[in-house]
Amino acid sequence: MKRVRVAVTGAAGQIGYALLFRIASGQMFGEDTQVDLQLLELEQALPALKGVVMELEDCAFPLLSSVTPTSEMSVAFKDADWALLVGSIPRKKGMERADLLKKNGGIFVEQGTAIAAHAKKSCKTLVVGNPCNTNSYVAKAMADGMDERNFFAMTMLDQNRAVTQLAQKASVPVSAVKNLAIWGNHSPSMYPDFYHATINGKPAHQVIDDEDWLQGEFLTTVQKRGAAIIEARGASSAASAANAVVDTVRNLTTPTPEGEFFSVAVSSDGSYGVPEGIMFSFPVRSTGDGWEIVQGLEHNGFGHSKLNATREELLNEQAAVEELLG
Ligand code: NAD
Ligand code: LMR
Repeated sequence: MKRVRVAVTGAAGQIGYALLFRIASGQMFGEDTQVDLQLLELEQALPALKGVVMELEDCAFPLLSSVTPTSEMSVAFKDADWALLVGSIPRKKGMERADLLKKNGGIFVEQGTAIAAHAKKSCKTLVVGNPCNTNSYVAKAMADGMDERNFFAMTMLDQNRAVTQLAQKASVPVSAVKNLAIWGNHSPSMYPDFYHATINGKPAHQVIDDEDWLQGEFLTTVQKRGAAIIEARGASSAASAANAVVDTVRNLTTPTPEGEFFSVAVSSDGSYGVPEGIMFSFPVRSTGDGWEIVQGLEHNGFGHSKLNATREELLNEQAAVEELLG
């Protein structure tokens, strides 16, 4: 039996509530891996977290070895193999993600530093709390001595949203849609790349054959889906976000099927003209322990303009947090 130590921040929040039970049941790391959960919350949320821990106990999950609730980062990140950074203030109605930048950035200064001090040197960190690309950039910059390739930000929810929109339009099951890459930022500037996606092995834009819809309604539906959910639910997405966390970790820890790729924001190595170090979502393939950015995809003028816009937005976000990094 393998064993994995997983730190989850914001564990008493909405996403935490939808996520922890799926990790503990084995859906994230598989049936052959026992899990130790180390749950970080603000002091004032510890009573609510206690209730979540009681519910985890009441599930009697065979793979759950231990649960440690705490408000101390040194305890939460101790020897962690994975750090899932969810805890931060979510966007409310009418707010843009940029509004969260300064509010949440400080959290990731502290947590990046604490991960470097307490987690395993091989710890992998996935940032979910928004604005997740730039928060991950902050955590990575503060995590002295850690490998920048072990920092990620989540764009899997955007990929899943885009896949469903294409499947519905083409009247096919979601499993028929492959290789839908999200490029750039988890924000309305993201580029859900339908030009390289396939439906039953054929180019999606030939199957759907409605470029106006693809470049217009499809794109904006995916880009603004987070806001549409906030409008409808009065709170930001939670179950679908937790589901995407499970998908991201599974995608990174299992070999990607031949010819396929998935979306995650990683520290750019300069691929596709994206400046090094930006946390930019690319099409990625995993070997199970390592990953690589898929090379050689060609973009048309439309794709280039979208890539440029999302790259510029990320550079601006990065400049806005530079002072936090001291
Ligand atoms: P929530 O308010 O329900 O829960 C957040 C929790 O984090 C709270 O319990 C709060 O006490 C805790 N918290 C705040 N600061 C903390 C800190 N410094 N350390 C530890 N815990 C802390 O919010 P939620 O709905 O669970 O969303 C969490 C974050 O995820 C938000 O930033 C939201 O915008 C983001 N999100 C990202 C995606 C994505 O696709 N990347 C999708 C949905 C939501
Ligand atoms: C989402 O995409 O649902 C989340 O990032 C929440 C938000 O603020 O949009």
